[in-house]
Order: sequence, then structure tokens, then C-alpha cells
Amino acid sequence: MYTEKVLDHFSNPRNMGEVEGANGIGTVGNAKCGDIMQISLKINDEGIIEDVGFKTFGCGAAIATSSMATEMIKGKSIEEALQLSNSAVVEALEGLPPAKIHCSVLAEEAVKAALEDYYKRKEEAK
Ligand code: FES
Repeated sequence: MYTEKVLDHFSNPRNMGEVEGANGIGTVGNAKCGDIMQISLKINDEGIIEDVGFKTFGCGAAIATSSMATEMIKGKSIEEALQLSNSAVVEALEGLPPAKIHCSVLAEEAVKAALEDYYKRKEEAK
């Protein structure tokens, strides 16, 4: 049912935890399943994501998709991270069962929420 990639990221999650000194944190939830996901980012002055972490109170697919999403945006620019789509995460994981697609949507939303928080903090600091 799950691909090797999903099982790998589920049993060996990358970038788990909250980044120290994060300057953008986004938390999103899915009302249907009740799962929650948080992405924290450390973005440098050049707009590059230096470090990224995730925390989730979620299912196995939520763990695998957020782990993969962090790998896909680490070292990338804000613009590139904004382009991250849930379908790109699913593709990188070589597929997810249809009932689990919403878990990847949560990962995309959490990345976007963290970037929004980064911009909000920047505005407030002005
Ligand atoms: Fe809801 Fe996976 S079942 S995030």
C-alpha cells in the first residue's frame, strides 16, 4: 500500500523537531482527521532557507510527507519554497494512497504558513 520511500521517511524522518532560532513557524490542521503539522524555518538575510524542521501530531503519511517536504525546501530560496506543491511531494514519495493525499496537502500548507509567518515577523520588525 505504501511505497518504499514513504516507509523510509516514516521510519527514518528527516529534520524532525523545531529549528532553533526559527524566524518563521507555521502550524496547520485538518479538521476531518484532527491531525496537526508544524513547520519551522530559519531563513537567512539572502532569503535562503538555512534550516527547517517539522513536528506533527499526525498519521504515518503526515510524518513521511512533512519529512520529504523539509528535504525539498532545505537550502532553497523563499520563492522556490513557495512553489512547493503537495503533488510534487507525493511524486517525490513515489505515490500515496488516495485516502492519504490530504496529508500531503497539510505539508504544503504548513510550509506556506511558515513562510507567511516569516513575512509577518519581518513586517512587524520594521
Ligand atoms: Fe490526516 Fe494523515 S490522516 S494528516
